[in-house]
Amino acid sequence: MMRRAVVKGVGHYLPERVVPNSDFEKSLETSDEWIKARSGIERRHFAAEGQTTSDLAAEAAKAALAMAGMDAADIDAVIVATSTADLTFPSAATMVQHKIGNTTGYAFDVQAVCAGFVFALSNANALIASGQADRVLVIGAETFSRIMDWSDRSTCVLFGDGAGALVLEAEGGTGANTDRGILSTDLNSDGQYKDLLYVDGGVSTQNTGMLRMEGKEIYRHAVEKLAQTAERALEKAGLVADDVSWVVPHQANIRIIQSTAKKLGVEMERVIVTVQDHGNTSAASIPLALSVGVQNGQIKQGDVVVTEAIGGGLAWGSVVIRW
Ligand code: ACO
Repeated sequence: MMRRAVVKGVGHYLPERVVPNSDFEKSLETSDEWIKARSGIERRHFAAEGQTTSDLAAEAAKAALAMAGMDAADIDAVIVATSTADLTFPSAATMVQHKIGNTTGYAFDVQAVCAGFVFALSNANALIASGQADRVLVIGAETFSRIMDWSDRSTCVLFGDGAGALVLEAEGGTGANTDRGILSTDLNSDGQYKDLLYVDGGVSTQNTGMLRMEGKEIYRHAVEKLAQTAERALEKAGLVADDVSWVVPHQANIRIIQSTAKKLGVEMERVIVTVQDHGNTSAASIPLALSVGVQNGQIKQGDVVVTEAIGGGLAWGSVVIRW
């Protein structure tokens, strides 16, 4: 008998304002065709003025709790994966905890940029497996629109805002890969690649900063490292590509998603794609895609779901879940 972290609820929230690619044509030398062809992105949501990451996160959390049939008071831990917290401190997670009305649990943020949700999920799994929590709310939430350089066409057209959340609950499992819940995790980082993707400011350097990216280099690392980590996670779970019901990748670029699926040997019919509607929402992109996949009737109980993500650091990883 072992403790498994089983998904009981999932939900998401997107800010009201939708920005189509054509909006960028007004201020930049770019086109809807270029953005679509190079990234697969057609539109993205941007948070309203005054709307913060914890606002988006709290809405996603409420939706996930509703699906789980749980109250905020049932939650032992709240983990928010984000690189765009409302304030330097306290954590976005404690703000979410307050906004949903939980006073008995503990809350903290995880910062691993676009891989943040995979890192948070892996930490939540460890808390549940070790008995430090029975029910964990894991949220990915971002407002990347706040760190865009609007004069840089090679980055500002790629990102969006949003939030997604999962409720995990401890359940007894046999230890076999037929159990429901998180079956395996694989986390990696390598700080030597800092200059490929970073924000050129922060608390210790006295300005908020803006996102800087070497897109081509990131692309090259992404396909190789994403396939590698997903394969490793599958191997740890004792599964192969044919066992996979759904790949739910970080949604950065349709070409990265397609190349990684090909490398993994999973056809695109088994990949959840939302990048056209959300753009790259960093740590929010996987829980957003999970929520949309469940809402659309694609992901069902018992399915083998492989999540994989890479981002600034570089940091990358994969989590295999039997839904
Ligand atoms: N509109 C029009 N032209 C553009 C735009 C734009 N928005 N942006 C760049 N260009 C130009 C470039 O200036 C370049 O022109 P040049 O040849 O005269 O120098 C040309 O288009 C080609 O640019 P490339 O960078 O070679 O285009 P590429 O096909 O590599 O696509 C892209 C760029 C979309 C950024 C791609 O490299 C990519 O997706 N990389 C990965 C980025 C990513 O996924 N990051 C996120 C992962 S981690 C995270 O999520 C934080």
